[in-house]
Amino acid sequence: VIFEQIATGGCQSYFIACGETCAAAIIDPEVSQIDRYLGIAAREGVRVHYVIDTHTHADHFSATDELARALDVPVVMHRDSAAPFASLRLDGGDMLLIGKMRLTAVHTPGHTRDSMCLRVADKLFTGDTLLIGGTGRTDLPTGDPEALYDSLFNGILKLDPALNVYPAHDYKGQGHSTIAQEIATNPRLQKKDRAEFVEMMNHLNLSAPTHITEALRTNMTGGKTVAQLLSDAAKQVPFISMAELQSRVAQGDLGLVLLDVREKDAYESGHVPGARHLPRGQLELRVNTELPDPTQRVLVVCELGLISTLAAQTLRTLGFPRAGALDGGMKAWREANLPITKGSAP
Ligand SMILES: [Fe+2]
Repeated sequence: VIFEQIATGGCQSYFIACGETCAAAIIDPEVSQIDRYLGIAAREGVRVHYVIDTHTHADHFSATDELARALDVPVVMHRDSAAPFASLRLDGGDMLLIGKMRLTAVHTPGHTRDSMCLRVADKLFTGDTLLIGGTGRTDLPTGDPEALYDSLFNGILKLDPALNVYPAHDYKGQGHSTIAQEIATNPRLQKKDRAEFVEMMNHLNLSAPTHITEALRTNMTGGKTVAQLLSDAAKQVPFISMAELQSRVAQGDLGLVLLDVREKDAYESGHVPGARHLPRGQLELRVNTELPDPTQRVLVVCELGLISTLAAQTLRTLGFPRAGALDGGMKAWREANLPITKGSAP
């Protein structure tokens, strides 16, 4: 068995493969680690058959949808998942074959309605149902402390005590634990009475996870995070450095159309000498009159160097194959004390 635990901050994801047949699965992948998972598969010479989310995550950005499309494999989630891209939906007790390994789903609602734990040989991937020294919270959408009590005390805690517990979160770098160890030492599991357990879970007073709105939006629909949108655009757009643009400004001949896509006030309060003004909100509507020659080289500049990437990508989509973006924005340009012209567009 080939096995690797990949941490993204406190979020844990897992790559597991059958060494004999070279079949692999990825559990709870995170979007910033996509190249890493694909790199592991290449390094180990294995093929990923399933990408699996143990539940709808509210705290990290799931990579299952993007990985599934890149690898042409199904996204595996529980039957109750809201995600429309979950194409292989499991019920409790369902088993997947990963080469010669058997992966069995145990439905464990509580943290979310669609939570499941995954048992593979001596490992139990517990998602956010059981953490090392903790449990998942039950105060987020579809959370239910009563259900979590049943999923734990009448569910996974009755499994083989020697099973190794691999949770979806671990902030202390402990890696893994066992069922027996958690039963003995996990403070939350010491509340063995249902009412006491529910009372405790209802009074944890936890703050909302960061990015919860964006995480639920993207994880439940397959939509992109803002960071993904920007990085996808950046992969399709060439950049020009601030030093390169500075030397073109110094020569007094830009040799390209420099397009400032900020709002009017920002443009007038200071722009790169020679920059033309076309606010991003009007880009598509005015592009035919403002940029009549599609073979022109166009360099887009904005305030932070992010929106310019999207605008350059839009221009390329519209048929400007030489559109690019400044690596940096007007904020960095000003901070570097590079030359600026004030006033309205000529
Ligand atoms: Fe979670």
